[in-house]
Amino acid sequence: MENHLTVVTHPLVQHKLTLMRDKHTPTAVFRQLLREISQLLAYEVTHELAMTTKVIETPLQEMEAPVLAGRKLALVSILRAGNGLLDGMLELIPSARVGFVGLYRDEKTLQPVQYYFKVPDQLGQRLTIVVDPMLATGNSSAAAVDLLKKAGARDIRFLCLLAAPEGVARMKEAHPDVPIVTAALDTCLNDVGYILPGLGDAGDRMFGTK
Ligand code: URA
Repeated sequence: MENHLTVVTHPLVQHKLTLMRDKHTPTAVFRQLLREISQLLAYEVTHELAMTTKVIETPLQEMEAPVLAGRKLALVSILRAGNGLLDGMLELIPSARVGFVGLYRDEKTLQPVQYYFKVPDQLGQRLTIVVDPMLATGNSSAAAVDLLKKAGARDIRFLCLLAAPEGVARMKEAHPDVPIVTAALDTCLNDVGYILPGLGDAGDRMFGTK
């Protein structure tokens, strides 16, 4: 992908995003919208996948037909909110391999600490798409990408629903080689790190916790 940041302005994405932002939208509807929007975002983040051809037979004749090239791609969810984007993407790309990164923020150092890391093998030969709905400070996203690079990933993209300028800047500084695809670039973070205007806590909204 050429740009470091791509904002998907498609009307269906923007309409669904507005419904998701609305605090009156119930959990079940929020989750369904996230599933739908993740598939539209998946379409954008995969639009330059490498292709090759193979010979097949249609009922009428033989043809050389396009298919995806290379190893199956890897989807890596940043726990727990990443799973909301993951589910919809897996419906569209069922053969993708899946990884999970769990990070929490140390209260003293405020730095992300890893508590879970499980990713597909041969990451260096796969396009790796990291999914997390909210790119806020960018600290956990940058740390997750660090871990994936240490595990061998070379071709990484980051997919989120909302991005704050602070998070985009942090990712650009730490990982200028990782393009970001998002449905919106919001205004800023508030003093406790929530995106404004945002949609609240994505994990709480999708799982009905508080
Ligand atoms: N994580 C969220 O779930 N929401 C925000 O606004 C920021 C980080």
